[in-house]
Amino acid sequence: MRSKIVAGNWKMNNDQAETSNLIDALKAHGDFGTTRVIIAPSFVNLAQAVTLTADSGIEVAAQNMHEATSGAYTGEVSPAMLSSVGIQTVILGHSERRAYFGENDATLAKKVTNAFDHDIDVVFCFGEELEDRKSDNHFNVVKSQIANALFALPAAAWFKIVLAYEPVWAIGTGETASPEQAQEMHAFIRGLVQDQYDAVLADDVSILYGGSVKPGNAQEIFSKQDVDGGLIGGAALSAADFTTIIKSI
Ligand code: 13P
Repeated sequence: MRSKIVAGNWKMNNDQAETSNLIDALKAHGDFGTTRVIIAPSFVNLAQAVTLTADSGIEVAAQNMHEATSGAYTGEVSPAMLSSVGIQTVILGHSERRAYFGENDATLAKKVTNAFDHDIDVVFCFGEELEDRKSDNHFNVVKSQIANALFALPAAAWFKIVLAYEPVWAIGTGETASPEQAQEMHAFIRGLVQDQYDAVLADDVSILYGGSVKPGNAQEIFSKQDVDGGLIGGAALSAADFTTIIKSI
């Protein structure tokens, strides 16, 4: 169901004590109303985060997951392992995974399927590079990223998907897409889903924006019709900033 969501991707930040402190600080800010609040700590701190957020309304997601169910994949984490520590959501397709760890559309399609096979929801990330936008190819890039990884799925699987548009040129750079650029792309994405499935499904999917969302720009971006919330990196590491962003939705 389409909902307002603010998710914090902690990336490779926060050790065990820092994870605990940040969760305590977020909990101290109390009730976030109907907004779904998700945090994504590192693998090693997931179990602890699940325990610490119990009954707080804050959800915990993993930042990645392997496409196989189990086996000889040294250093990897399976969906069953995530489930076993209480994880119900995984972020897949982040541009850093694509750029630094060679994840491509085919791998991601397998990861998405494997997540669903284990009843894990997916926050699916995609977005164009600066060159794509400069050459006016950004719509094509986004279309192929979504279509190649997700459009073979049956409609029924879509209630377990949240989309996250993260233009690579806006991640960690301090440069955001303008609210108009975000809205334009989000409307385009909703149109793609409508063309592939139907209008009801397209209207139901939550589409988050990610890329240098900060307390000072969140409200304007979130005010756009097709922007259902944000996937936050750097600003999610500060309880005060993350809370301000959540409350600005
Ligand atoms: P920043 O908010 O630090 O730009 O990171 C965005 C992001 O990559 C979230 O997944």
